[in-house]
Formats: sequence, C-alpha cells, structure tokens
Amino acid sequence: MSPERQSHVDLAGLTGDPDTNGPNAARMYDYYLGGSANFAVDRAAAEEQIATLPSVATTARANRAFLGRAVRLCLDLGVNQFLDLGSGVPTVGNVHEIAHQIDPTARIAYVDREPIAVAHARRLLRDEPRVSVTQADLTAPRTVLTAPGVTELLDFTRPVAVLAISVLHFVRDEQDPAAILATYRDACVSGSVLALSHTTIENLAPATVDRGLAIYQRTSTPVIPRPLSAAPALLTGYEVLEPGPVRVTAWRPDVDPDASEPVANTWAAFGILP
Ligand SMILES: C[S@@+](CC[C@H](N)C(=O)[O-])C[C@H]1O[C@@H](n2cnc3c(N)ncnc32)[C@H](O)[C@@H]1O
Repeated sequence: MSPERQSHVDLAGLTGDPDTNGPNAARMYDYYLGGSANFAVDRAAAEEQIATLPSVATTARANRAFLGRAVRLCLDLGVNQFLDLGSGVPTVGNVHEIAHQIDPTARIAYVDREPIAVAHARRLLRDEPRVSVTQADLTAPRTVLTAPGVTELLDFTRPVAVLAISVLHFVRDEQDPAAILATYRDACVSGSVLALSHTTIENLAPATVDRGLAIYQRTSTPVIPRPLSAAPALLTGYEVLEPGPVRVTAWRPDVDPDASEPVANTWAAFGILP
C-alpha cells in the first residue's frame, strides 16, 4: 500500500471530534484493508505497525473473512438480524453486503463510536432501508440497546446475532467486557448468536509486542490483547459451536479459501444462546 495515497475522507455529516491530531485505530484498520477513510497520521502509524508486525494486514483480512463466514452461518441458522458492535469504516465485505446477497430482508444495525467511520457509513448506507448506523459506545450497552437505530430496526423477540468482531481488545479490563456482553446477551432470545474475534499476542516475540502496542498507545484506543483462554468468560451463557475458540484462520476455514492465510494474531469464536 502506498503511504502517499490520497485519502477520500468526507467530513460532511460528522458528529463529534474526528480525532485527527493523532493516529486512530479505526482508520489504521481501514488502511490495512486498503481503504481510503484515513489521514496521513493514520497511514504513518499503520505503516510503522506493518514494519513492526508485517502480518497485521493479513490478520485484518483474515478477520474480515471470518466476519463473512460468521454472517453466512447466522443466515444458515435462520438468524437474519445483526447488531454489529464496532462495525468500523465500511469497506468491501460489510455485513449488509454479505447478508443481503443471501437474504435481502436481513436487518443490520451498525454501531461504532468513531465519527469518521459513522459519517462514511451513513453516507454509503442512506439508501439502504434495512440498515441503520448508530454512533455509540458499545461499553454502554443500555444506550446501544435503546438507540432508535437499534430499536426501530431489530426485533428482539426474534433471534439477533451480536457481532463483536475485532473490537473487544479496545475495551479495558476495568470496563468488564464479559459483563458488557452479558447485557447484550440478556436482551436476546434463545437462538441468538454471539460471534466475536479478538487480538492476541500469543506466539509473538516480546520485542515485537512492545513496539506494536506502543504504536497503539499513541491512539485514543490502546489495544488490550487477550489470550485464547479469555474466550470462555466472554461467551458465558452461549453454546460454543465447533471448532470452539480458535485462531481466526482455523475457524471453519474450508468455508472460505481466504481463511487459509497463514498468520493471524486473532482468535475467533461463535456461540448460540440455548
Ligand atoms: C478493528 S475495527 C473492526 C471493524 C469491524 N468489526 C471488522 O471486524 O472489520 C474496530 C472498530 O471498533 C470501533 N470501536 C472501538 N471501541 C469501540 C467502542 N467502545 N464502542 C464502539 N465502537 C468501538 C472502532 O472505532 C473501529 O471502527
């Protein structure tokens, strides 16, 4: 990817501070995926991260591939309502694109707190009647669950898929990510889904970890990696489907050849509410 590439960030419709003085993790992720909703400061930090951990872009793609497999499995299971927490800057392969190819009646409520991700999403999705975009912090689940974009679109008397894909590593331990997920779980009926993926540092050299985490310390959302062993607490109450929490590339990889990319410092899991 070229660091000189121009961004096409459209600031129209922004609500809140776009946090452009320093790098932003959402926009760095957009850059890893080849998007253009990022600024020079984001690209510089992302390039630094790529130099530190070259697999970071591969991991981002593997994560998006998992997102696609999880959405397709939800639809196979008859779950066609999605609450996408930390949905990010819209790039190719968003939840509604995947879901609507299979079920045009699927409903998707996107939630992100990053103003540029939200402004982009609102502009791209303004003609999509079954999609909403809410600017909110997922760590305030009551606010999310009562937001008009969520209540007016999703029917919580039917199963809902809660997606927490590559986002919980921005939630600090003291914010209690398991308790936050439990609040979303308790709003859902039997047959609902929790699909999540999470950054880990298992198998990385300590010096690489230190340098990589230091780059994210310069953003407003430092990364808190968690090991695979953290998965069960986050999935409390859910029946975890095979193959259980595993490295993201190993989660049902035969469904999607993209998932065979070799390195990914992320684990993934998929649970159903009994
Ligand atoms: C790495 S991106 C993942 C995007 C998408 N879920 C995916 O997997 O492709 C993480 C996103 O989560 C958002 N995010 C981080 N913390 C959040 C929070 N507390 N509430 C809502 N969104 C959050 C960021 O703004 C960013 O857009």
